[in-house]
Amino acid sequence: MEIKPLNNDTIIAEACCVGDDRGLEKKSELTEQECTALSAARIKADWLKKMIPEGLSAKIAYSGDKAVGFIEYMPIELSNFHKGKDLYIINCMTAPHTPPWGGPHRERIPGCGSVLLTAMIEDVKNKCKGIITPFGFAYTDDMRGFFSKFGFEEFEDEGLKMLIKRFEPVEPPSPIRYEQRYQFRQIPGKAVVDIFWSSMCPAAPYTLLNLRDVCKEFGEEEVFNEFCVDDREALNKYGIEAGAYVNGKYPWSTYGPLSKEEIREVLKKFSKKYV
Ligand SMILES: CC(C)(COP(=O)(O)OP(=O)(O)OC[C@H]1O[C@@H](n2cnc3c(N)ncnc32)[C@H](O)[C@@H]1OP(=O)(O)O)[C@@H](O)C(=O)NCCC(=O)NCCS
Repeated sequence: MEIKPLNNDTIIAEACCVGDDRGLEKKSELTEQECTALSAARIKADWLKKMIPEGLSAKIAYSGDKAVGFIEYMPIELSNFHKGKDLYIINCMTAPHTPPWGGPHRERIPGCGSVLLTAMIEDVKNKCKGIITPFGFAYTDDMRGFFSKFGFEEFEDEGLKMLIKRFEPVEPPSPIRYEQRYQFRQIPGKAVVDIFWSSMCPAAPYTLLNLRDVCKEFGEEEVFNEFCVDDREALNKYGIEAGAYVNGKYPWSTYGPLSKEEIREVLKKFSKKYV
């Protein structure tokens, strides 16, 4: 296994989140889903390009010519949700594994997660006093056992519960919270679809692109509003960090990026055409 830095050659693999082992950029023909996944990755890649000069970095694990995992991190000052200094925060990481719902199955490469985290620690240990991370990412919400092997311990500050690894004494961060200011509107006879999305995880632009397309299919029956909440200004203005809503409610049954099929099924319930 080889660990590569974040650069033009690795950026799309990183932005694809689970590694570009499907080689989307190189495929001559893409399915509709792959096309959306690639467009979502490009939106994330644009965000990465803006953040790299500010200090964001990543390590990408390759097995042969396939990207199989990554770890992404940045100085805490770049986080919209934490107040702190002398710290780096891990934004996300993944190594080959099988998600809790069973697929897509990706055979573990034992040691991959450790190699990625070790490479990150090496990179930042002389740039900060410590590293913080959530307990886990996305659907793997408890990776405390994994992180504890590297000296991460739990802390709690103003209700913020995270893990910290200290290289020297350092204050843990406090949370930045936003007050909801956005008022959901109801329009008789229409479904009002609001999406609050950010570029940090490609799952959000993936849902955005699918929602945009499906709402077009429904035409006049939908009112579609999209809000990018990549920065603190937008978060202060709307006060909603993430999510897609219909008439102010979260109607989806599954966690994670929404497929067109699921969006259609839900929107049909609001549509006169299908009643
Ligand atoms: C957690 C994760 C990074 C571990 O990767 P890995 O390559 O299996 O890790 P390693 O092989 O280096 O494991 C190191 C040690 O941690 C342990 N470990 C691995 N995953 C663990 C977990 N979830 N909880 C507790 N311990 C764990 C291993 O058993 C191993 O223990 P050992 O040293 O006693 O043998 C990987 O499973 C993962 O990426 N999970 C999904 C994370 C995710 O959801 N990301 C967002 C995707 S959108």
